[in-house]
Amino acid sequence: MNSNRKVVLVGAGFVGTSFAYSLLNQGGVDELVLIDVNKDKIIGEEMDLSHGLPYAPHKMLIKAGDYDECKNANIVVITAGLAQKPGQSRLELAVANAKIMKDITQNVMKNGFKGVFIVASNPVDLMSYVVAEVSGLPKSRVIGSGTVLDTARLRYLIAEYIGVSSKNIHAYILGEHGDSSLVPWEHCYVGCKKITDIMKEKKHPMENLQRIHDYVWQAAYDIIEKKKATYYGIGMALNRLVRAVLDDENSILTVSTYQNNEYGQEGMYIGVPAIINKNGVKDIIELKLNEDDQKKFNHSCEIMKETIEKEITPILNEE
Ligand code: 2OP
Repeated sequence: MNSNRKVVLVGAGFVGTSFAYSLLNQGGVDELVLIDVNKDKIIGEEMDLSHGLPYAPHKMLIKAGDYDECKNANIVVITAGLAQKPGQSRLELAVANAKIMKDITQNVMKNGFKGVFIVASNPVDLMSYVVAEVSGLPKSRVIGSGTVLDTARLRYLIAEYIGVSSKNIHAYILGEHGDSSLVPWEHCYVGCKKITDIMKEKKHPMENLQRIHDYVWQAAYDIIEKKKATYYGIGMALNRLVRAVLDDENSILTVSTYQNNEYGQEGMYIGVPAIINKNGVKDIIELKLNEDDQKKFNHSCEIMKETIEKEITPILNEE
C-alpha cells in the first residue's frame, strides 16, 4: 500500500466537495484525487481547493484524475449519485444509484484497488451492499457512512438539551440511515452517567428524548426543503471516518456494516456501532437491545432485505 496517505473521491458534488474542503482544513491526507463524470467540474474544484493550500495546516496534493489513481489509494470514498429532492425518501433513489454504484465499483476494482471503500451515496445501507457485492472485497473493507451523521445530529441535540458538551454525549443511532432508525436509550450516556437516570432525576419525561430522535430523522427533510441539499454535516462525518481508517484508530463509530448474525440479523448492511481501523471494520459492538428496540431494529433490517431482493439483486445480476 501507498506510504502516502492517499484518498480517491468519486463524486464531486456538494457532499464530495464539502468532504474535500474539510480534508483541506483539517489535514491528515497527503494526496486527494477527485473523480467525476463532469471533468470540467473536477478541474475547477482542484484549482479552487488548491488555492487554499497556503493557509491549510498541512501540505496536500490535490488532483483531478481518473480510476487508474485507485490502484495505490488507501481509501476510495464514493459520494456520487442522485441526491434526494424535497419530499423524496432516500429509498426512492435505490435503483438509479445502485446502477451508478455498480459501474463505479467495477471501474475502481479494474484498476487493482486494495484499500477500504467508504460509501456515502444514498440509500447508503443498500449502496454499501452493492459496492461490497460488486467489489468482492471482504465485507469489513466496505464501510457505509451509515448513521454516523444521524449520531452526530443526535449528540448535538442532546448536548443542547442537557447542557453538556457533545463530546461527552455517548449516544448512538442504529438501523437504517433513514426513516426507520432507532436510539437504544438504555445504552446512552452523558459522560459516565446513564441518560435515563438523568431524565429521572430531572423529572423530565422520556418523550423529550424521543422528540429529539424524531427531530434527527426529520432533519435531512427539513434541510433539503430549505436549502435543497445537506452536505456540511456529512462532509465532516466522512472526514471523521477517513481519519479513523488512516490513523488505524480503533474508534467506535456507527457505520453501515455487513451483518453476519450480529443483532440476530444477516445478509444486509445496516448501521451499528463498530470498531474502525486501517482494515475497515474490525468488529461490531453488540448491544443487548430491549424487546421494543430489537423490534425496531428488525423492522429496519426487513426494509433492507426486501429492497435488496426486489430492487438491488436484479441490478447485480444484470450483465
Ligand atoms: C442526510 O441525512 C441526506 O442522507 C443525507 O443529510
